Formats: sequence, C-alpha cells, structure tokens
Amino acid sequence: MTTMKAVRIHTYGGPDVLAYEDAPRPTAGDGEVLIRVYATTVNPFDCAVRAGYMDGYFHYNLPLVLGTDVSGVIEAVGAGVTAFSPGDAVYARAGVFRDGANAEYVVAFASEVAAKPPSLDHLHAAALPHATLTAWQALIEMAQLSAGQTVLIHGAAGGVGHIAVQLAHWRGAKVIGTASTNLDVLRELKVEEAIDYTKTPFESVARDVDVVLDTVGGDVQARSYAVLKPGGLLLSTIQPPSEETAQAHGVRAQYVNASPPVGKTLTEVAGLVASGHIKPMVSAVLPLSETRRAHEMIEGKHTRGKIVLQVAA
Ligand SMILES: NC(=O)c1ccc[n+]([C@@H]2O[C@H](COP(=O)([O-])OP(=O)(O)OC[C@H]3O[C@@H](n4cnc5c(N)ncnc54)[C@H](OP(=O)(O)O)[C@@H]3O)[C@@H](O)[C@H]2O)c1
Repeated sequence: MTTMKAVRIHTYGGPDVLAYEDAPRPTAGDGEVLIRVYATTVNPFDCAVRAGYMDGYFHYNLPLVLGTDVSGVIEAVGAGVTAFSPGDAVYARAGVFRDGANAEYVVAFASEVAAKPPSLDHLHAAALPHATLTAWQALIEMAQLSAGQTVLIHGAAGGVGHIAVQLAHWRGAKVIGTASTNLDVLRELKVEEAIDYTKTPFESVARDVDVVLDTVGGDVQARSYAVLKPGGLLLSTIQPPSEETAQAHGVRAQYVNASPPVGKTLTEVAGLVASGHIKPMVSAVLPLSETRRAHEMIEGKHTRGKIVLQVAA
C-alpha cells in the first residue's frame, strides 16, 4: 500500500482528536482526478465535522481525512476524464462527504475541479473554493444581487464575508459590513459602511436593506429581519432562519448551502480573480502538521480572511 501524510480523525471530539499520520494514498475512480495537494485550509465546516455535528447529514466513515479546499496539481485522471491531464494546476472544493484535502493527495470528482487562477499561488488559490462558493450561492444565485442594491454582511472580515463583500461590489451593490477585531479589513475592502458591532448596534446604521448575509447566527440573525425593506431577503450560512418571523416582518429568509457541481462556478471565479474583482486574503499559513492549531484559531471566531495549510512548496 502506498501511503501519504494526512490529518485524520478516528473519533469525533475536540481538536485533540486530529491526528497527523500516515494514511493510504487514494486512487482516482471513474470520472475522478487525483490531485497532489500544495495547499489546503481549515473552514468552520471542518471543525463541525471533527466535532461530529455533521455525521447525521453525511454518514462519514472513520477514520476520515478532513478538509474541503485544495489547490494543487493533477497527478492522475480516472476513466472518462477528458477535461484535465496530469500536470494541470487546479483548485477545487472536494471531500465534503468523504476523505478530504488535509493531506498530500486528494481525490475529487472532475466536475468539482477548475483550472487554478494563474495569477494566484497555491496558498491563495486554496483560500477560495469553500468560502467563495458559499458567498456565490448566497449573493449571486439566491439573492441575484444587482447594481444599486444594499447588502448588510455580518462577519464581513471572515472567510465567507470578505469574499461576499467583493462579490457584492462586483455586482455594483453597496455594502454595510460588521466586524470588531478585524474592522481594518473592512476599510481595506472599501466597505461603504463599516460597523464595529461591539460599539454600534447595526440597526442604528442599516435600515431598509435589500439583502442581509448572516454568517454569525443567534441574536445577530434574530435582529436582522427588522433592517430589511419589505420583500427583502435574509440569507444565513449558519442557522436556518425562521419563515414565521420572516413572514411577520414581510420579508423572505433562506438557509444557504454551497451546492455542487462547483467546477463551473470556480471557472467563473477564476475570471473574477483575473479581472481584479476578487482577491483572497490569507492571514496565516501553517504547515499541515499544525492543523490542530488552525482548528483552535478558527474556533476562536475572529479569523481574518482565511487560514491556509501549506502541504508542498
Ligand atoms: N451552509 C454552508 O454551506 C456554509 C458554508 C461556509 C460557511 N458556513 C458557516 O458560515 C459561518 C461563517 O463562516 P466563515 O468561514 O466566514 O467563518 P470565519 O472565517 O471563522 O468567521 C470569522 C469572522 O466572524 C466575525 N465575527 C465573529 N463574531 C461576530 C459577530 N457577533 N458579528 C459580526 N462578525 C462576527 C469575526 O470578526 P471580528 O474578529 O472582527 O469580530 C471574524 O472575522 C460559519 O459558521 C460556517 O460554518 C456555512
């Protein structure tokens, strides 16, 4: 058996269940590609998988390799794959419901993969897929955000938020963003109204907005219905909003899921990187062997942009 280094869990639990160890190197089946991973990330989703919160949805087999973001190079292609060849630089969201990308190699469905944006190194390309596909699903697919609209983005400096701001600006929308420790990121992103949520209730600034993107949940979500204009749309990545409360406010509310197939969207995203509309922010780079520290940082809930794991140079 050929092995590789990987970060796996053998049981659900806290960051201490993460094991950096030897694991079987996967092979590409029909319609799949084997990617040599150069960079990967940790998302809050990975922390939720590690803790066992996603087991009811995806029925994982343990041990499981975590991680959904990858930037790397095609090592081999399975039967029926014509879009990619060994040596191609690619990026993808892979391994959502099976072994993932916190490893030296990952298998992805060819439909999940796109050519890596040429202007980005692997560290920055890996920062994009999971967060960008989520922000895209929310603001482009669900809200169909358009020029002249106003969007309130909670957690605008985080992984999803900082890309959502850039997608909104690309669409010509005005952005009101919230942050605290990372307020300067909002200024860098040229958010029109930056709110320090520890000092200013967002309701005192945001009124009659077209769309709210909630990446925080709880009380922040509960207070968000009231700032929408009649017929406005509340989208949450973290907690299904209440249809009853939405109706009582005369607005709409939906839960956001980044949905496959995603390679086609990542190709569009690469175009936006090339035109300068999207620039991923990487605030920390750690070696794969320090994935546990990345989980602890993410669970601190004050991530700036993305935390990336370097696997190969
Ligand atoms: N449903 C899906 O398909 C899907 C996909 C992706 C993500 N998600 C979920 O969406 C959420 C966000 O993901 P992410 O990757 O963006 O997380 P993240 O990068 O960890 O978000 C961290 C950011 O949240 C901000 N923050 C913390 N508390 C806040 C508050 N009370 N108000 C406003 N901002 C606050 C922090 O800003 P400051 O430090 O400045 O306070 C920080 O920049 C997670 O729960 C994740 O699981 C769901």
